[in-house]
Amino acid sequence: MSEYGDGFPGIRPRRLRTNATMRRMVAETRLDPADFILPAFVREGIDEPVAIETMPGVVQHTRDTLRKAAVEAAEAGVSGIMLFGVPEEAKKDAVGTAGTDPDGILQQALRDVRAEVGDELLVMSDLCLDEFTDHGHCGVLDARGRVDNDATLERYAEMAQVQADAGAHVVGPSGMMDGQVGVIRDALDQTGHEDVAILAYTAKYASAFYGPFREAVGSSLTGDRKTYQQDPANLRESLRELALDLQEGADMVMVKPAGPYLDVLAKVAESVDVPVVAYQISGEYAMIEAAAQRGWIDREAAIRESLVGIRRAGARNVLTYWAVEVARALR
Ligand code: PBG
Repeated sequence: MSEYGDGFPGIRPRRLRTNATMRRMVAETRLDPADFILPAFVREGIDEPVAIETMPGVVQHTRDTLRKAAVEAAEAGVSGIMLFGVPEEAKKDAVGTAGTDPDGILQQALRDVRAEVGDELLVMSDLCLDEFTDHGHCGVLDARGRVDNDATLERYAEMAQVQADAGAHVVGPSGMMDGQVGVIRDALDQTGHEDVAILAYTAKYASAFYGPFREAVGSSLTGDRKTYQQDPANLRESLRELALDLQEGADMVMVKPAGPYLDVLAKVAESVDVPVVAYQISGEYAMIEAAAQRGWIDREAAIRESLVGIRRAGARNVLTYWAVEVARALR
């Protein structure tokens, strides 16, 4: 008996947590294979996949192993695969020519994967120049060495067309240039690709958590991307970017990174009626894998929890390097 009287507490939320079946029934957030999109890297000129040291379990694929990975993703029930191309070092130049060459590695990979999976898996392409430029920036530079927004837009328009020609169902502009969604929509519409969707990287922050990705794509960047990617301090700025992307014709919008930006994700999700996607990025992956390798964290439980958190905050879909593993475990 307590000082609050007999029968206290009368309301017991713990009743709904008594066993696993009860907890499953009342779960407000569920994970499903269709939630996930697998980001994947394909590298030119290699015969065997190359391990990415900072992302244990993730590789740079050959064209062949990428095809197999796409089939596995489709079989696991994953919704899409987002492709990143890694060209031979000698093919990088100031304007990222390899990014618009119909025979560039990304376009080859898009054709390969699309031929393999048809419509069973959505084929998505990163639409950005950083993998293809010798300076590693997401756009072209002006005479003073600054990223030239409007000159970059012309390159993005060309990229959109060649990626769609190569079979992309969805293009993902990730360069954070002003006006990129509008220019890409026009380029797609003018070249008979009205059905190709735009997944806009709407709120993309200048994040330290991209570190492992830069190894994954053999980035040539020195310096940072702070004149185009957003300041982690800002939330309202994301809503401004969101309004612009929707106005310019984005079909889906993305918040990236995911874990450290759940407040942004939640705000974006409550503000729009288009699907909201989150990108659980390389650094988020690396932190859990590294801690798990040392036995400091329960790997599978931490992966699940991280993904449930992202979905709970409002993401309809999640790009994650664990997409196939988690989708299989859910089946
Ligand atoms: C740019 C791009 C980046 C990522 C996806 N697209 C890197 C960057 O902006 O520096 C990062 C993804 C990750 O860290 O997993 N093309």
